This record gives sequence, C-alpha cells and structure tokens, in this order.
Amino acid sequence: MATYPDGFLWGAATAAYQIEGAVDADGRGASVWDTFCARPGRIADGSSGAIACDHYHRYAEDVQLLRDLGVDAYRFSVSWPRVLPTGTGQVNGAGLDFYDRLVDALCAAGVAPVATLFHWDTPQALEDAGGWLVRDTAHRLGEYAAVVADRLGDRVAHWIPINEPREVTMLGYGLGVHAPGRTGLFDALPVAHHLLLGHGLATRALRAAGATSVGIAASHSPTWTASDSAPDREAAGFFDLINNWLFADAVLRGEYDADLGALLPVRDGDLEVISTPLDWYGINYYNPTRVGAPGSGAQEVDGIAMPEELPFSFAPIDDVPHTDFGWPVVPEGLTEILLAFAERYGDALPPLMITENGCSYDDPAGPDGRIVDERRIRYLDSHLTALRAAIAQGVDVRGYFTWSLLDNFEWAEGYRQRFGLVHVDFDSQVRTPRASYQWFGDHIRASR
Ligand code: BGC
Repeated sequence: MATYPDGFLWGAATAAYQIEGAVDADGRGASVWDTFCARPGRIADGSSGAIACDHYHRYAEDVQLLRDLGVDAYRFSVSWPRVLPTGTGQVNGAGLDFYDRLVDALCAAGVAPVATLFHWDTPQALEDAGGWLVRDTAHRLGEYAAVVADRLGDRVAHWIPINEPREVTMLGYGLGVHAPGRTGLFDALPVAHHLLLGHGLATRALRAAGATSVGIAASHSPTWTASDSAPDREAAGFFDLINNWLFADAVLRGEYDADLGALLPVRDGDLEVISTPLDWYGINYYNPTRVGAPGSGAQEVDGIAMPEELPFSFAPIDDVPHTDFGWPVVPEGLTEILLAFAERYGDALPPLMITENGCSYDDPAGPDGRIVDERRIRYLDSHLTALRAAIAQGVDVRGYFTWSLLDNFEWAEGYRQRFGLVHVDFDSQVRTPRASYQWFGDHIRASR
C-alpha cells in the first residue's frame, strides 16, 4: 500500500481540557470551560472536564498506548491557564513541569510531540477583560507562545498555535453553545480577527524561538447547496465564505473578503502578521454541510437551536449513514475539501495535514470484553481511502491525525460522545483499546 508519501506523519490527537482533569492541581488557573461547565444546563450530561481522563496523573500509561499503537506523532494541547494562571504575567513553573514530563515521556517512546497552544481554554481572567472580543487577548497568546517555546522548544518540533478559530467564533461567541457562552451572532465577528491575529503573533513568537514546523488546525468542510435555486445557492455561498474561506484566505493569502473584512477591526499590518508563512496547513475534517436559504431548513442542528436571523439554514444529509453523534458519514467530502484547497490556493498552498478526523460510536463490549467497533474501522478506512484519492490527484498531504486517542470530554455533549480508539471507563479510569486501535496500528505498519 505504497500510496502515502515518504515520511508521512501518522498520529492521534487530544486536547488539554478534554483529557487532563486535575483542574486545581499545581497552581492551574480557571479557564472559560471551567466557568461554562459550572453553569446549569450548559453541558448535556451536567458534567465537566474536572477529572476527564485524569491524564494529568496517567499520562505515562497514555504514552504507552501511543507507543503500542505505533504512531509517529501525538498532537496534544497545552493548557494556557496551567502555564499562565491569569493568562499573562506570572508563569506557573509547576504547570510547565507537567508538559516537560509529558514531552520527555513521548520522546523516550519515540513519539514526536505536536503541541497545540490554544485549544479553546482561554484563561478566565482574560475572558473577564473581554476575551477574544478584544485585541489585547491576541497579544497575550503571542507572549504565552514564547513562554512555552522557551521551555519545550528543544524537544517539540511541531507547533499549532490555535485550533479551530471558526468554532470559537461561532459556537463560543456567536451562538453561545460553547464557552464562554456569549450570543452575539454577527457581533462575534471581531473574535475571528483577534484569533487569527493571535495565531499570527504566536507563529512569529515560535519562529523567533527557532521553530521550523508551524501550522494551524482549522476545521473545514465542503458546503453543499440544498437545491439549485438562486436563494439556496446565494445562502450556501455566504455560508461557505464564513465557514471556510474567511479564515483560510486570511492565513494563506493575507486577505479578507471585502464585505466581511469591512466589518472586522483590522489595523494596518494585521493581515501581514496573520499570513506569516506556515510550514503546513492542518485541516480538521468531519463532514460536509448542506445549506439553503434562511427559513427553508432545520431549526435545530446537533441539538443547537438556530436563530432566525441567520442568512442561511441547514438541510439534513440523510442519504448516508450517521455516527452515534448524528453526523453524516461522507468520506468523499474529505477528497472534495482537499481538492478545493489545492484549486483555490495553487502554488501558494503549503503542504497539508489532516490534524483531526474521527467519529463518535459507542459499541458495547462483547462477552470476552473486546469492543469490536466495526463502524469506526469502516469510517477510518473510508476516510483514508478518500485521503489517498486526493494524494493521487496531486494534493500534497503530509500527515493524518485521528481524533481521538481516548474517549474524552466532548464539550457541550459531556461524556455522551465517544471518539476514542481507546475506550475509557470514567468511573475506574480503565483504558480498553477498541478493535479500531488495532486496525489503525496495522494500517500504519502496512503503509510503511
Ligand atoms: C475539536 C475537538 C472535538 C472534535 C469532535 C473538533 O471540533 O477540535 O476538540 O472534540 O472536533 O467534536
């Protein structure tokens, strides 16, 4: 199966708040997710990441799982309030020590660390000062990047300043279904600009510290038009713009769409910072989105009520299988989005990575205790086939990280969704590799 390029980077991904637990340990400050989870009704099962996978104390076991899986790399995130409890100022050495231990363990296991700096856990103190609605937060991210690079840069080669600016903007500040739970709708747009500015400033700080492999992890999905009617096509085109290209054009071309850009608090030089050249661009892919004119589609998506003011609505993709989360399974969408990037950016496109792809399935254990998650295996297999199809058509993709190594705290869903190759019993903290873990490891070995 020699269809992956030489040196292709195989990995698994997680994020700090979703797995670490230990929210009060060793001087960690509060993040917006601690605060959000404490508000009644915000998390579907009333839970929080306070304990999660207790990875903070069990990281050695989890590194062993990565080693046995046979991945080249592990994408984790550093918790900003562990390192800077108020987001700025005094560095918490004990918090950095944890990542020292983790990175040392990974290196000893022959697994390359890939560090995400911001996977949604904004320090609460910064949120109290306006969070991502204010420009200052972008500068704080840049400073934090320098602190982490200074401590870990001798062993961490690969860096991801931010994860999914789209979700933070839309879910966190637009619809309020993620932390910090603000419901500004289009008033949330400055958040997108400040996150991107933070990404650029952090990239520059990492470069100044000598980093030679810096990317981004941004979610992208093909937009499918609900019908051929002019209103549906117009609505889908607008959604595609804010969903995909607003973020990617800024990073890869240093430009915003003229109409949207006029609504953003852009200062001279910002777009140059935002488009600081990257070594690669990471795409998180889950499924396409079908979009039509306002009022024509679903009033609720993934249990989230859609405000009437939106200039588009979502139509179901129901002619395909769905995961236990209700997400449509459309592997060809991965080929489609990769080709769309290659076509849109041409020679200006750096190599791509798939920084997340995976699915929520909760198959029960059999009488022998084994969890045979055939549907996850099929999901991974079909998406990797779709990835190879894009590579065969000339798209330069250098790596694939599955989401996720472990079942974990799935944000507003709590523990109801299980994305892991490894099942976690959240009462006993026992880890049980599923059949997909074996399958993924076999696939990696066969591809070499
Ligand atoms: C996020 C992860 C999340 C996953 C599944 C991505 O949007 O980066 O944190 O768990 O998707 O929802």
